[in-house]
Amino acid sequence: MSLDARIAIVTGSGGGLGRAHALYLASKGAKVVVNDLSQEAADRVAAEIAAAGGEAIAVAASVTDEAGVAAMVGRTLKTWGRIDILVNNAGILRDKSFAKMTMDDFRLVVDVHLIGAAICCKAVWETMRSQGYGRIVMTTSSSGLYGNFGQANYGAAKMALVGLMQTLAIEGAKNDIRVNCLAPTAATGMTEGVLSEESLRLLDPALVSPDLLTLVGEDAPTRAILCAGAGNFAAAHVTLTDGFYAGMGDGVGERVAANWDAVADRAGEMVPAYGFTQAERELAKAGFAPQGVVVAGAR
Ligand SMILES: NC(=O)c1ccc[n+]([C@@H]2O[C@H](COP(=O)([O-])OP(=O)(O)OC[C@H]3O[C@@H](n4cnc5c(N)ncnc54)[C@H](O)[C@@H]3O)[C@@H](O)[C@H]2O)c1
Repeated sequence: MSLDARIAIVTGSGGGLGRAHALYLASKGAKVVVNDLSQEAADRVAAEIAAAGGEAIAVAASVTDEAGVAAMVGRTLKTWGRIDILVNNAGILRDKSFAKMTMDDFRLVVDVHLIGAAICCKAVWETMRSQGYGRIVMTTSSSGLYGNFGQANYGAAKMALVGLMQTLAIEGAKNDIRVNCLAPTAATGMTEGVLSEESLRLLDPALVSPDLLTLVGEDAPTRAILCAGAGNFAAAHVTLTDGFYAGMGDGVGERVAANWDAVADRAGEMVPAYGFTQAERELAKAGFAPQGVVVAGAR
């Protein structure tokens, strides 16, 4: 398996996980755009790639700056003619309990993680569509998937990326654009002081990056949420239980409350292929199931 001749952009790759991703993709043959806020940090990683025999260009830009991202994409196309892989990795933290968090810190974190990723996806989308090929990775987090104290802003932004993935994967499918999420755990500037010294030693970012071979390779899945750290790889799923049909009329609230175990029962739960699956199943339970009532197509 190789990524020979593939062109990859890795945002926030001047350090931490992004650097490990950029080095890994280059080691598998991809030509890499190393992006970060600081030109110096991006240059350093591009030089590391070149020293190892790979090809890279370093582009300083904030993922929140549409013009800067457009310029980065333009330069990539001018240099290599296509863009196969986008790893949305850039990120920041502004941790505080929700009680103490300002809305400015909430907006800032959402802006970098969610809007930044959306800007980068949008900037490569037409290129990937016209190539009939694209692989996009969103960097989500267990904080978004499951919650962590002090990370309401970060968790919300990270789970929003799962939502962005779900729809881009559906819309990109006909042009072979596959979109996945990575929930990493790694010792980086971001986790300093968050995890214990001892656990950080086992969490080399380079142990996360090999999952990219699966997530951005030729045979990549789409809509996968891969959790990786310390050499372990697991999948997270957003599931839907079969549920409990409470019917209509009086007493629905009471019946739902009385049957909470049946509502939440995980036996027979599924991972819907698209969002309207929920409505289709609800209508079917209500005895109304003509085919194609709910159309999930493009509008
Ligand atoms: N380290 C972990 O355990 C962990 C866990 C879950 C998710 N993540 C996610 O992984 C990604 C990488 O984090 P990391 O741990 O390597 O942190 P890090 O702080 O070491 O690296 C983040 C990089 O993003 C860059 N960056 C920040 N804002 C940017 C912007 N607006 N435009 C371009 N670059 C920007 C930073 O300069 C930095 O180089 C982040 O999205 C983070 O949320 C990390």
